[in-house]
Amino acid sequence: MATTLVTNIKLLVNTLEKNKLLRGKELAKLPCIGNAYVIIEDGIITGKGSSNEIQHPTSKFSRIIDAEGQMVLPAWCDSHTHLVFAASREEEFVDKIRGLSYADIAAKGGGILNSARKLNAASENELFTKAWKRLEEVSKQGTGAIEIKSGYGLTVEGELKMLRVVKKLKEKSTLPIKATFLGAHTYPLEFKDSHQGYIDLIMNEMLPVIGKEKLADYIDVFCETGFFSPEETEMICRAGMRYGLKPKIHANQLNLSGGTQTGVKLNALSVDHLETMDDDAITTLAKSNTIGTLLPSAAFFLRMPFQPARRLIDAGCAIALASDFNPGSSPSGNMNLVVAMSCIQMKMLPEEAINAATINGAYAMELEKEVGSISIGKKANLIFTKPVPSLAYLPYAFGSNLIDKVMINGEYI
Ligand code: NIG
Ligand code: FE
Repeated sequence: MATTLVTNIKLLVNTLEKNKLLRGKELAKLPCIGNAYVIIEDGIITGKGSSNEIQHPTSKFSRIIDAEGQMVLPAWCDSHTHLVFAASREEEFVDKIRGLSYADIAAKGGGILNSARKLNAASENELFTKAWKRLEEVSKQGTGAIEIKSGYGLTVEGELKMLRVVKKLKEKSTLPIKATFLGAHTYPLEFKDSHQGYIDLIMNEMLPVIGKEKLADYIDVFCETGFFSPEETEMICRAGMRYGLKPKIHANQLNLSGGTQTGVKLNALSVDHLETMDDDAITTLAKSNTIGTLLPSAAFFLRMPFQPARRLIDAGCAIALASDFNPGSSPSGNMNLVVAMSCIQMKMLPEEAINAATINGAYAMELEKEVGSISIGKKANLIFTKPVPSLAYLPYAFGSNLIDKVMINGEYI
């Protein structure tokens, strides 16, 4: 058995003793151990504590790592991404800089439909190779568990192709991965005037295959004015639920779309985005078991107001942070930046942001038994920082690469 001792850790971060989804004030409590050690056996955390209390003879270990000056954190749990896509969309980015609106870009065939056209023209192998590179990139940036959505197919073949790519990523990657079916991302052009026709395609042609081949864990809908209404969202989610897919939905991004209330009604695992929230949406979410997942890099990239994290936390909501990695609204899957933005622009405390990006992110993927904290029995998916003066330095010095190494299942990547 490979047994590793990591000693001299300046600060071991998020050493949660008892798994718990954190809400409201609890988010600010981040358990840490100074001058710490961790023991890893066959990729699993089996011991931790203060370095001067190590009970074991050092001869017991097959490997000893001296983490002098470094902090060790649980790897980020990124619970909302769209990282399978065929091509980037920087031409739209420049068009927007030049003053074109969302509607102008859509009229030029841009946006989600642009990605869908390119995805349908790409082979499964090509998509896999590109997604694999992105997965490698984000894992080097500290992501140790991830959720990936479909939604750029918008045809039976395209959606199934995307989910098969995710399935292959699950098989080949050492990262825990969850798959979400987002057939209801937008209406394809041919169903512009027949929304029910596309919904029927989702329910009658896509879901049965997804259910049979076990291609997804969750179902997502873009519940938004001009996209899917709350009623359509509910119909699609309930159809997914019949195949065992829990809802995790895009809600309240651009408008008070009713997505949060619909998600809560359906007992969704999470409602994600939440840039546009009123008191009713906030109190409904606070009283529920549904997690509110904030995606600050999408707000940043689209030049929108950031999510009202303080109001959500003060109301007692359970908050997670995720990257929304996608070619249209967040062409970055860097969770270090997400954590920094949430502190800088949303006034989350560093402790709140780290909890939201680790243990609560794990809950938002139902992976809390495996990842999200440095706890006995969980995977040794860990971030080793460069020497830093304090925990708050991590979001403060945004843009500096403060990660020295990342470990997945007890092995450096
Ligand atoms: O989560 N909001 C909807 N979907 C994506 C962006 C879609 C795109 O432009 O490709 C998001 O932001
Ligand atoms: Fe998204």
